[in-house]
Amino acid sequence: AGVVKFDLSKVKPGQMKVVQWRGKPVFVLRLTPEMKKCSNRVIKNEYVVVVGICTHLGCIPNWEPDRQIFKCPCHGGEYDACGVNTFGPPPRPLDIPPFKIEGNTIVLG
Ligand code: FES
Repeated sequence: AGVVKFDLSKVKPGQMKVVQWRGKPVFVLRLTPEMKKCSNRVIKNEYVVVVGICTHLGCIPNWEPDRQIFKCPCHGGEYDACGVNTFGPPPRPLDIPPFKIEGNTIVLG
């Protein structure tokens, strides 16, 4: 219970998918080579895996592919493609859930 598996072959480079995990949205973003310099956060393979809950007051940010940021609809907070807060009221980066990557599958929990 609580463990969720997700097939990473469904995520194309530059795409973001939302996976539900323990009642929370988890964002799985597959980086393109140009995006890999977005921050110095740990990236597993080419995937960014973060809990999709704003660290300000808990709204769910949206992925904006044109700007390659996560933007929170509530107070305009912004996070880069690696989930690091870059603008607005969020006090810290998006949380990272416990996960591992096994072949083409991500295992959350
Ligand atoms: Fe996201 Fe306030 S809840 S900026």
